[in-house]
Amino acid sequence: MPPPADRAPATRVPTIIVHGGAGADPSDGRDELRQGVRAATVAGWRVLSAGGAALDAVESAVRTLEDHPRFNAGRGSVLTRDGTVEMDASIMEGDHLQCGAVAAVPRIANPITLARRLLEARRHVLLVGDGALAFARSVGVPECDTASLVTDRQQRRHAEVAPRSATLGGTVGAVALDRSGTIAAATSTGGTIGKLPGRVGDSALIGCGTYAESSIGGVSCTGDGEAIIRVVLGHRALYFLKDAADPEYAAKIAVDLLVEEGRGHGGLILLDWRGRTGYACSTPLMPVTIMSPALAEPRTPF
Ligand code: GLY
Repeated sequence: MPPPADRAPATRVPTIIVHGGAGADPSDGRDELRQGVRAATVAGWRVLSAGGAALDAVESAVRTLEDHPRFNAGRGSVLTRDGTVEMDASIMEGDHLQCGAVAAVPRIANPITLARRLLEARRHVLLVGDGALAFARSVGVPECDTASLVTDRQQRRHAEVAPRSATLGGTVGAVALDRSGTIAAATSTGGTIGKLPGRVGDSALIGCGTYAESSIGGVSCTGDGEAIIRVVLGHRALYFLKDAADPEYAAKIAVDLLVEEGRGHGGLILLDWRGRTGYACSTPLMPVTIMSPALAEPRTPF
């Protein structure tokens, strides 16, 4: 829903918050993660600061991270048990609750753009697998070679017997508020290492990995997808945000819910209708970057 009339759009301060996935702390790779989320934030901020739409800003930020081989989305996605790539993505705008999502899609360099095209088509919310590829062809989103999505790092990780704690990390997401008061959220992932082919996680599910209502805020989640789905984390976090005085506190109690009731680990980013941000995670690290007019440059608090 659009913001209430008493919240005049003229007061809206454009803001973007981006994450690069909750997971382990790769003590030797932090700079690469920091530079990646900063570049994504700059891409989204370029849109917002020019007066562009929140939906364009989050798509641009997430595309940047899908193109970055260090993150588990697009190029750099983790591999399934069978060594294939199956990606999930979703995007939502919070004025009219328009949304689009794709799940278990192979051979698409930027699944978030395919989800955006589905949002724009305004017929279905979620397409999977071959149906999503057929839709991609119909709207001119090109297929790529699987080899272009598979990095040496992910091939090595696939060859290892990964401990459970190492299966998280690298999902990407962004939430933005534009000058007109619209909030949008987007999330993209390759899923979890060694997942069964056909598995769909929270990142493809509106209300779980992604949610936005411009009168309240927006959220993008990361972490153990099955746990996030169990507690419908995105939607519940948004309503914590509605009730809490402080987005940081809303983020914290949402992560507590994920751990205690969902029995999993992860994190999330939040942005409210005023442009206030919050983030929290139960893992050692979650790369986050924030940009707004009050900041001289993107703030990267990790
Ligand atoms: N949160 C990403 C996934 O579980 O697929």
